[in-house]
Amino acid sequence: MSSTAASRYLRRSGHEMLDRLADGIRLEQGAALVVCGEAGIGKTALLRQALDGAPGLRTLWVNGVEFEMEFAFAALDQLSRPVQNRLDQLSAGHRDALETAFGRREGREADRFAVASAFLGLLSNVACDGPVVCVVDDAQWLDRASAQALAFAARRIESEPVGVVFAMRKPRPFPRSWDCRNLS
Ligand SMILES: Nc1ncnc2c1ncn2[C@@H]1O[C@H](COP(=O)(O)OP(=O)(O)OP(=O)(O)O)[C@@H](O)[C@H]1O
Ligand SMILES: [Mg+2]
Repeated sequence: MSSTAASRYLRRSGHEMLDRLADGIRLEQGAALVVCGEAGIGKTALLRQALDGAPGLRTLWVNGVEFEMEFAFAALDQLSRPVQNRLDQLSAGHRDALETAFGRREGREADRFAVASAFLGLLSNVACDGPVVCVVDDAQWLDRASAQALAFAARRIESEPVGVVFAMRKPRPFPRSWDCRNLS
């Protein structure tokens, strides 16, 4: 598909797909979606138009940033900042895992499985107040630890009012180390 055709397709069908995703999230049918395409095709514009201020949906946004790729959990920290005041409401294990990951607690290196599980717990906690969608733009520049935690969550939200949407550039749909074939 040429980039113009892909851009047209995105404008025509992308909004509809995201509207469907949002409707599902509101009905506790959580889902994940990956919007993948060349630079400038309109991925960010689509996400903003479809999800920014979508009624009845809280959005948590993060952009992958190339120079933060080396910092484990940098993107997860950024994404969850608006809800980190809820860490106190999590179990001690989940709170410790996230505080360690976000550098709020000195000591051991964060255990990636514990952090992923705790992040899912945080999303569930936030979703108690209403549907929530995590929007991860420029996902080709996520640090690996955040990518793993987000993919872990994305595969476990099907009966929660939670969604995860990734936008990323081709031709590198996902870092090779991810296995996200079952995300959509
Ligand atoms: N649906 C749209 N409505 C309005 N403007 C659009 C739309 N799609 C794309 N554009 C315009 O095209 C340009 C590129 O769009 P955008 O930044 O969303 O691309 P992108 O796919 O996110 O690119 P990148 O991979 O570099 O992040 C922007 O100036 C944007 O305003
Ligand atoms: Mg963009």
